[in-house]
Amino acid sequence: MNSCKNLKIYVINGPNLNMLGIREPEHYGSGTYSSLCQLIQKHTENYVSENNNKYNVETVFYQSNHEGDLVDKIQEAYFQNADGIIINPGAYTHTSVAILDAVKSTKLPTVEVHISKVEERESFRQISFIREACIYTITGEGFNGYLSAFDKLIEYLEEKK
Ligand code: DQA
Repeated sequence: MNSCKNLKIYVINGPNLNMLGIREPEHYGSGTYSSLCQLIQKHTENYVSENNNKYNVETVFYQSNHEGDLVDKIQEAYFQNADGIIINPGAYTHTSVAILDAVKSTKLPTVEVHISKVEERESFRQISFIREACIYTITGEGFNGYLSAFDKLIEYLEEKK
């Protein structure tokens, strides 16, 4: 019988990502936040990695428009013994030392995701405070970027063990 490993992954989205489907579709597409969560849920359920390992994944979804609440959720991931974090900090990417410090303090493998191709947008979007604490950054893949982030996280966890 093949063994199945339990994993707990936090998927955290920052400000205005609850407005997906409404906000700037030219950058973020037409899908809603709830359709994004469903897409991720489907991808992570009964997950089989490239190395043919099977996972039973608990995915914890969270979105907030408030910096401190995002910090609290990152800390919760640590105290709930999560295996990793996928985070799109939205505009806080470009401003928040608090979110950087929170991720650093957990030492959890974290992947930074941006739906849009931030590197081709305004100069203020070229700064990412959180990036130095992340194992990987994905930009410009739309909603599929979260799925790539999950695959990268698994790859990292498998290499580490
Ligand atoms: C974003 C890019 C950020 O610059 C912006 O503030 C967002 C979304 C993205 O997913 O492309 O809110 O993180």
